[in-house]
Amino acid sequence: MIHVHQLTKQYAGRTAVDGISFDVREGEIVGFLGPNGAGKSTTMKILSGFMPATSGVAQVAGFDVFRQSIEARRAVGYMPEMAPLYIDMKVKEYLRFRAELKGLHGRDMRRRVGEVMELCGVTDVRRRLIGNLSKGYRQRVALADALVHHPKLLILDEPTNGLDPVQIRQVRELLRDLRTQHTVLLSTHILQEVENACDRVVMIHHGRILANDTPHNLSSSLRTSTIVRMEIETPDKQAASKLEAIPGVRKATEEAGEGGWRSFSLRVEPGHDVREAVQATAAAGQWRVRELHRELPSLEDVFVELASTAEVPRGARV
Ligand SMILES: Nc1ncnc2c1ncn2[C@@H]1O[C@H](COP(=O)(O)OP(=O)(O)OP(=O)(O)O)[C@@H](O)[C@H]1O
Ligand SMILES: [Mg+2]
Repeated sequence: MIHVHQLTKQYAGRTAVDGISFDVREGEIVGFLGPNGAGKSTTMKILSGFMPATSGVAQVAGFDVFRQSIEARRAVGYMPEMAPLYIDMKVKEYLRFRAELKGLHGRDMRRRVGEVMELCGVTDVRRRLIGNLSKGYRQRVALADALVHHPKLLILDEPTNGLDPVQIRQVRELLRDLRTQHTVLLSTHILQEVENACDRVVMIHHGRILANDTPHNLSSSLRTSTIVRMEIETPDKQAASKLEAIPGVRKATEEAGEGGWRSFSLRVEPGHDVREAVQATAAAGQWRVRELHRELPSLEDVFVELASTAEVPRGARV
């Protein structure tokens, strides 16, 4: 649904996007992740046909965004970072205006505007001026705008930026509903966002791709150690050293327990999953176990590690 190859964008000599390549398959929700100035919005503007690239290939739904821009734009619903909403138009009026610009007319247009207002939860405010709406409602109007022409692909630039926690949850739920019918590329610098909502994560930093994988694989691939936490009941004074004898366990630390249960945290070398061996050790010593789980590092840890080892291209500034 998206094919990007060696895409580069320079602004007045400064490279904002530096030869990136990635693909998004139909039906995927992909998170585009990176710090401020990484090149997320620039890439999304190019993909939505709002800005030409300096070089490289960008295709959406099989259409080249430069050479087949009309077909490409028809396939894309784009929600920009700062949605250029007309503040002195009413919600319904604005959406009808936008729908007509995108080629919908008459009864079809009015029905579709009704549908997207319902889907995005703005039916109640349809007669309000956009300028008087809260930020969260404006975001919803922008999303309704992006959806109105039935695009196959949604490109959403920080859709939850500036929203309160309740609104963030609502947008996430909305995205979950949309995934059955749309392919979604969304940008964010909130790592938790992609951890929960996305099938795959493309990490970008200084205009280059650092990683492209599922959130789970990214967390598992980290070179830093993982933690296994467990709660056991045993009088065994040697429990910690028995746990440390398990291959892969670097250190076992006893922490405060409660009601006769003892808590241990095990620092485990990267690439090892010691849970089964821990279970076997507990069984051999007749320890009772009421908790055993592995904490995978967060995407934030992954990002920090990748960014710190990545070579910063010359001339790149944020
Ligand atoms: N119109 C422009 N003219 C010159 N430089 C620009 C322009 N737009 C963006 N840049 C620069 O290009 C780089 C990438 O910017 P971009 O907006 O794509 O980043 P981003 O990943 O979306 O960041 P943010 O998280 O802050 O939205 C930055 O260094 C930025 O300053
Ligand atoms: Mg941006």
